[in-house]
Amino acid sequence: MLELLLPPPVDPLWDLTEAYGADARPERLNLVLGVYRDHTGGTPVMTAVREAEIRLAQRSASKEYRGLSGNTAFNRAMLSMVLGSAPGGAAERAVAVQTVAGSGALRLLADLVCRTRPGTTVWISDPAYVNHRPILEAAGLNVRTYGWLDAEGGFDTEGMLEDLAQARRDDVVLLQGCCHNPTGVDPSARVWEALAEMAVRAGWVPFVDLAYHGLGDGLEADLAATRMLAERVPEMLIAVSCSKNFGLYSDRTGCAVVLGASRGALRHVETALQNAARTLYSMPPEHGAAVVAAVLEDDGLRAAWRGELEAMRGRIEANRSGLAGELSALGWDRQARVLARQKGMFSMLPLSPRQMLRLRSGFAIYGTTAGRINIAGLPAERIACLAQGISAVLAEDAGRPDSPVVQPVPAHRG
Ligand SMILES: Cc1ncc(COP(=O)(O)O)c(C=O)c1O
Repeated sequence: MLELLLPPPVDPLWDLTEAYGADARPERLNLVLGVYRDHTGGTPVMTAVREAEIRLAQRSASKEYRGLSGNTAFNRAMLSMVLGSAPGGAAERAVAVQTVAGSGALRLLADLVCRTRPGTTVWISDPAYVNHRPILEAAGLNVRTYGWLDAEGGFDTEGMLEDLAQARRDDVVLLQGCCHNPTGVDPSARVWEALAEMAVRAGWVPFVDLAYHGLGDGLEADLAATRMLAERVPEMLIAVSCSKNFGLYSDRTGCAVVLGASRGALRHVETALQNAARTLYSMPPEHGAAVVAAVLEDDGLRAAWRGELEAMRGRIEANRSGLAGELSALGWDRQARVLARQKGMFSMLPLSPRQMLRLRSGFAIYGTTAGRINIAGLPAERIACLAQGISAVLAEDAGRPDSPVVQPVPAHRG
């Protein structure tokens, strides 16, 4: 049987991570995967999370199966974090089911769409999170794209709205709620309002992917667009990840949220999501969800977590403005301005795929070929070195847009 298996495509990010592992240059810098790193270069367990784990370890007496929707306290806490808990608010016409992290939520919601209306078209940004298209297509959905970046690397308002004007009733539009991966470029509040209006008028369903809330402008600000949409549209899907903002990457913690026009409209939703999960992985893992519930239900732990999240956000912001400052000092003002406007864990460098390869071969700096770097993984003492690498690559090509691939120079030290 196995001789029939064709060589499958290799995941580009993990492939790059392997190439990084095999790179012997001591100055190598890995900015590929979206993982927060502190000033020591590590990804520590957040103190509020650790404290919740200790409390849970002391009181949990069993690892018996949980219900099909996962940890219900976690689901309640997620609903109120994402949608608020005001009486009569959107959370009252929403249902939440715990999932295997944000990826599991994306897949479960995609399955729900497919079960409801097979062959539905889902619109994703171009460029998009690398796993959006594969997840949606694996669920049997039809994928189309809308524009995201303009020629200067800023947000392409006209391009996006023009493309989405073609979205039809019952199409689904996947939108990243904040800190767009891979570009770090987000729509303005005005564009979000225009999207809400379009969704209501045209009858398409927003599907919001929330993976970086708290790491852009702050937790409330990062959730504002999602909450505004939820108040305006009758139906909406939300995939929530706790991987980054709780640092629970390997505990695979997340939640699928579905909003209906009324509570009655939701009557089959939870069972449909449970059935979808049953055929994929049966039930989600308990640990991360129990930890998040314990943090959010305790005033002290919640405040500590918010403080740590703010500190992470501050470090990311300092990295980004540090890099923009260094680039500007090296004479790349326009590029620095584009970078400074970006938000969240990622930055899109103003470099072509060829220049990104050059950064890798000449300077041992690893970002994705499309230009994305994990700005949250950048050690402060390497900011100047990254800026010098980018500057050197830009200078090699300045005034030579069609220049051939340059030969690698000796590895940069520092
Ligand atoms: C935009 C976006 N959505 C969803 C995810 C899924 O995250 P996870 O499955 O680790 O929670 C990621 C992870 O990088 C992401 O960038």
